[in-house]
Amino acid sequence: MIRVAVNGYGVIGRRVADAVAAQEDMQIVGVVKTKPDYKARLAVEKGFKIYASDDKSSEAFRKAGYQVSGVGKDLVKEAEIVVDACPEDVGARNKATYEQLGKKAIFQGGEEHDVAGVSFVAQCDFDQAVGKRYARVVSCNTTGLCRVLNAVDKAYGIQKARVILARRAADPEESSKGPIDAVVLDPVTLPSHHGADVMTVLPHINVVSMAYKVPTTHMHLHSLIVSLKDGGATEDGVKEAFEGTTRLLLFEGKEGFKSTAQVMDYARELKRSRSDLFEVAVWKDSIKIVDGELCLFAGVHQEAIVVPENVDAIRALHGGYSASDSIRTTNKSLGIIK
Ligand SMILES: NC(=O)c1ccc[n+]([C@@H]2O[C@H](COP(=O)([O-])OP(=O)(O)OC[C@H]3O[C@@H](n4cnc5c(N)ncnc54)[C@H](OP(=O)(O)O)[C@@H]3O)[C@@H](O)[C@H]2O)c1
Repeated sequence: MIRVAVNGYGVIGRRVADAVAAQEDMQIVGVVKTKPDYKARLAVEKGFKIYASDDKSSEAFRKAGYQVSGVGKDLVKEAEIVVDACPEDVGARNKATYEQLGKKAIFQGGEEHDVAGVSFVAQCDFDQAVGKRYARVVSCNTTGLCRVLNAVDKAYGIQKARVILARRAADPEESSKGPIDAVVLDPVTLPSHHGADVMTVLPHINVVSMAYKVPTTHMHLHSLIVSLKDGGATEDGVKEAFEGTTRLLLFEGKEGFKSTAQVMDYARELKRSRSDLFEVAVWKDSIKIVDGELCLFAGVHQEAIVVPENVDAIRALHGGYSASDSIRTTNKSLGIIK
């Protein structure tokens, strides 16, 4: 059993903890929170040991009637591998502790590539992370783009990709975030960081991106225009390549999938925990090749897509697993059909 600690039990940490607990070769040794709020209660109800982030937080837990098992550093000592799911930049600060205690760690997409040195999407570069000390599971947007672009690149070769991202403004629980009634250019100065981030995983693909935030909480929507190397590429060939790609599902507008809302409605019927859609959603009937350029729409359930990646990253850092074995095992445990 690989002993895993989850440092940060929020949107991503909660999901990763459940996914790790569902693996036959892994166990959760504990989770770290700063506040004794309802998420701490949920962790206790699930049987996870809670650790406070530091002594001050420990005192807050004590006052709220919680028994904590120690502070974050104590948990790190107990673990073989830490999944750091703290907010942006906190992970980078935590690295000194992992380094000091000689523990392997997985960081999330809010951290820079250099924090880990390996940026990870299982089906693209699992082997790069095998046996390494650190890996960074890239952001939800980058994960979705990498799965799609890697499949197209393997089938036909990519000359360059141009991507526009309509980003969800906030996660569903974030009631204090906006915008409520605006489309926010994020950033105004182009390009956005997403293209460069894809290139931390797929450095040979030239990707330029633009992004804006829209008032929705459930998915990001990507519009892609991809120049292909192979002049013989066909739309059916692209669809076939996607059918054979793991963690990528095709949805058809003619079946009623007209927006992200119907995709999330479908996800609810999958009866997965929290209605999570771990797969990137590609609109099959958006796939068109015009003048050697492939155009398509893809959607990303931001809270869920990186969850299987974290599980595979644990196996990669641990060593002793092939990419295909890990992906197959993770998929089966999470109910991912292909
Ligand atoms: N949300 C997404 O859609 C999404 C998607 C992909 C990747 N990511 C990335 O995943 C990472 C985590 O994001 P998130 O959305 O899960 O954040 P989140 O919901 O805000 O959760 C962060 C968690 O970290 C805990 N925390 C804060 N400071 C801490 C500290 N100093 N030590 C230990 N724990 C601490 C918080 O505890 P308390 O609740 O007790 O304060 C909370 O449980 C970020 O790098 C983000 O960019 C997020």
